[in-house]
Amino acid sequence: MVVVRVCVGSSCHLKGAPEIVGLLEKKVEENGLGDEIALVGSFCAGKCNRVGVTVTVGENVYPGVTVDSFGEFWNDKVMTAVAADKGE
Ligand code: FES
Repeated sequence: MVVVRVCVGSSCHLKGAPEIVGLLEKKVEENGLGDEIALVGSFCAGKCNRVGVTVTVGENVYPGVTVDSFGEFWNDKVMTAVAADKGE
């Protein structure tokens, strides 16, 4: 199980945290990953960026996730973490 934390602090909220949560929920559902990924909200991760939202995947913190960069983030960071977690 990979825990994905989306910062819902005020800065990230204004920069699109609700949209990023929606995109994550959609991807998890589309890919049937409900048993592999736990989506949770977190308070300010202390990484407020000028652009985008801070998302933590397992132990790794990724600031600056935007709707535009989401696809790349999902493939590079989230799916990689899921594969590693499953020992692939
Ligand atoms: S509000 Fe998200 S890192 Fe600060």
